[in-house]
Amino acid sequence: MENKLSDDHARRVREMFARISPRYDLLNHLLSANIDRRWRRAVVEKLRSWLPANALVLDIACGTGDLSIEIFENFEAKVIGVDFCRPMLELAARKTDRLDLVEGDALRLPFVDDTFDGVTIGFGLRNVSSIEDGLSELRRVLRPNGWAAILEFSEPVAPGLRALVAVYYARLLPWIGGFLSGSRAAYTYLPDSISRFPNQQTLASMMRNAGFEEVSFQNLTAGVAALHVGRK
Ligand SMILES: C[S@@+](CC[C@H](N)C(=O)[O-])C[C@H]1O[C@@H](n2cnc3c(N)ncnc32)[C@H](O)[C@@H]1O
Repeated sequence: MENKLSDDHARRVREMFARISPRYDLLNHLLSANIDRRWRRAVVEKLRSWLPANALVLDIACGTGDLSIEIFENFEAKVIGVDFCRPMLELAARKTDRLDLVEGDALRLPFVDDTFDGVTIGFGLRNVSSIEDGLSELRRVLRPNGWAAILEFSEPVAPGLRALVAVYYARLLPWIGGFLSGSRAAYTYLPDSISRFPNQQTLASMMRNAGFEEVSFQNLTAGVAALHVGRK
């Protein structure tokens, strides 16, 4: 029964991203006023301190590849992007031929244990049917002492900003996103999934429970997003 529910969830998410894929990048940059680029660069800055030369990095839920590209443009790293939505991967493939793209599920990664020096996931963990399972699968493929970086929407730290962002999510986002992508449902799902996602402290403790060490997080844009890191 549980398997069926998570399969249904995965199918719905995959179909939703397939539908909005042609407009995904445009909407990302537009709806975040380009701040999403700065958030992905924050991941790169964090990786700088711990990624070895010629590192092997896995970018889970890579979508159209923006975070993966940001990583290999900044490091001597081999980056593999994995995503379960083929139309998103096709768009990533059009942007670069330096990225190895693999069609696969974040909850059943097609890699053996202890493989990657670093694993990233940008705006992907919120979409998996079980965050706990996503974290443990992510950790499984990380080599011992390797680092994970999780970029995700989070809880704005100032009450005023929190209220403002809530209005933006509830009123503007479904309307603009729906109009430009043709899928209002996708841009209603976005704020819903953000509101269900654990806040900074809860995600940090879920990472600890999944076995990560030296877990910490950094708020981005006053907590609108957050970058969590942890070591295996
Ligand atoms: C919001 S997009 C993020 C894409 C990219 N990381 C970025 O920063 O723009 C979420 C991506 O997660 C993928 N995704 C969601 N659930 C997944 C799962 N269980 N396995 C693999 N990919 C998944 C979707 O197909 C989509 O491409």
